[in-house]
Amino acid sequence: MNLTAQIEVKPLAKEFGKIIINPKDVGILDLDKQLIIDLFKAYGVLLFRGFKAGCDQFLEFSNSLSTDFMDYTGGYLKRQVINDNPTLLSVNDFNSAIGLHGEMYYQKQHPAMLWFYCDRPPVKDGQTIVCDGIQFYNELSDTLKDLFQQKKIKYPSKLSKEEWQRRYKTEDIETAIKMCVDNGLQVKMNQDESMSRFYSCPAVYPSRSQEDLVFINLIIAAKKANPNAVRFEDDSEINEEIVSELNEIASRITVEIDWQKGDILMVDNYRVMHGRRAFSDTQRNIYIRMCASAFQAK
Ligand SMILES: [Fe+2]
Repeated sequence: MNLTAQIEVKPLAKEFGKIIINPKDVGILDLDKQLIIDLFKAYGVLLFRGFKAGCDQFLEFSNSLSTDFMDYTGGYLKRQVINDNPTLLSVNDFNSAIGLHGEMYYQKQHPAMLWFYCDRPPVKDGQTIVCDGIQFYNELSDTLKDLFQQKKIKYPSKLSKEEWQRRYKTEDIETAIKMCVDNGLQVKMNQDESMSRFYSCPAVYPSRSQEDLVFINLIIAAKKANPNAVRFEDDSEINEEIVSELNEIASRITVEIDWQKGDILMVDNYRVMHGRRAFSDTQRNIYIRMCASAFQAK
């Protein structure tokens, strides 16, 4: 039986993303992998809807297309491990909005792919948001295109002893410093055992195909959380004028995912920024997995 003929593929947005809908009764594990890979590479985000996948099927499906799952060591947020699986994490530690960002772009080792799974959707709000970094770059003014190609950015941070021990899952300072250095961070230890660090990186990267440029970084999310959390590498400020241009583009081209139970979202973390809307429903339960792709990157 041709299962591909039984699914519907609809656009998620005008320029990027697809929704893969299951109008009949196709199992998520029976989908044609090559079709998924081709759609993912071409469109950056795939939302699988109507497959009635449980968490075990989500794990099996993501395992079949990905490799090198990460356990979020060094990660910024507090994330709970689900079902004793350190590569299956909750995203619900707090419920305020998170601005658009590339996942873990504050360090060298960031995942190529993200998977989200909706265990329980919120009654309202709490949409995950996605935005095409290629389109974002193309929407920038010529001035900002030039600026972000010429200047790198940096993320300065200071971690208390308790905080670096939590993030790096160790009490040993040498081990924590090594993990930072291996991830391209510059580190200075302070007398109170806190850790001052910064990471420099581009704000714009070549796309998988090398044919486009991708605006993907944490500027929008970091500026929203703490105005001092990101600067240009030369220490100049990413000023209000720049931030308001970025926010204006983001508000115009961001796409909201209104979760339904069992939804699976596959995100290209080399192309697509994500974030979320605030929510008040404490029952919202969305999981994330971070990994490399088990197929050729290009
Ligand atoms: Fe994220």
